[in-house]
Amino acid sequence: MREGIHHKSISTGMPCASVMKRSKRGGAKIADDHGKLLFIMTDHYAVIGNPIEQSKSPLIHTAFALVTLQNLVYTKLLAPLGGFAAAVDAFRASGGRGMNVTAPFKLEACAYATDLAPSAQMAGAVNAMKFEGDKVYAENFDGVGLVRNQGCTLKGQRVLILGAGGATRGALLPLLAEHPATLVIVNRTVAKAQELSALARQHQTGQVPVQGMGYDELQGVFDVVLNASSSSLTAERPPLDPAVFAPGSLAYDLTYGKGLTPFLQLAQQAGVTRLADGVGMLAEQAAEAFAWWRGVRPDTAEVIRMLTVPLK
Ligand code: ATR
Repeated sequence: MREGIHHKSISTGMPCASVMKRSKRGGAKIADDHGKLLFIMTDHYAVIGNPIEQSKSPLIHTAFALVTLQNLVYTKLLAPLGGFAAAVDAFRASGGRGMNVTAPFKLEACAYATDLAPSAQMAGAVNAMKFEGDKVYAENFDGVGLVRNQGCTLKGQRVLILGAGGATRGALLPLLAEHPATLVIVNRTVAKAQELSALARQHQTGQVPVQGMGYDELQGVFDVVLNASSSSLTAERPPLDPAVFAPGSLAYDLTYGKGLTPFLQLAQQAGVTRLADGVGMLAEQAAEAFAWWRGVRPDTAEVIRMLTVPLK
């Protein structure tokens, strides 16, 4: 946060003359429209991980705070491996209100939470926490961020998801809640795909047929193909038959900021023109967390524009 942030008038939405000044106590002094000085405490949020330098969350949440006039600071917190609980304890003791959690602490955050939302239980991973007294509420907004950002309706679509790790786990329930026609989970290690499909069948409220299988067992074509494997992080091409893409299908890589990943290249070479990466999912999950913490949902368009890396 910069010194002297010009804020917008709540009533008109237009910039007004009063200026917010950050105080040494972590609060802010703000002059109201009559020139009267008010003291406002600044709420502190952070993203915790190791490494953490790469995180875009401070940028995103600071942008959200500015457009929604929320008085908060959002910082990065590097915790040592094995030091997650101590770091969160210290953050809470200093008045911290909430956190995002990134690798490798998403599982530890499950154990740390006092109240796990169903999304976090199903994912077996937490990506957002809210602190209220002794309570630690924990959520996983990755899956809901994904479905909010499909850019197409999933209802009635044949959906294929690559990978059977944490990213797929987190996406399953929100995907099924959209009522696709079918959902197939494909993975190199077949047993993991089958395990996740069994879990999905057990937890879903609808009647979507869910199957788990290996790449060489795949049959038919799909309208939406999601890469939730970590292949793009290592710039590898998943062993996917290009014939799986239906005419007019969407290829969506949950990774962001890598440009045209080997998965997206494969789709493009197969004639797919609707290509997307995970930047929208990143912005939407952040907006969900922000709304959960602050009670106001920011618009994501500007943040998506800011973070978009061309797919070429
Ligand atoms: P995350 O939490 O990001 O999902 P993870 O739990 O380690 O990470 O899971 C990674 C997933 O990507 C796994 O399903 C893995 O397949 P295996 O279970 O067979 O290892 C998948 N994966 C990683 N590299 C891949 C590649 N090059 N091609 C296809 N799948 C890959």
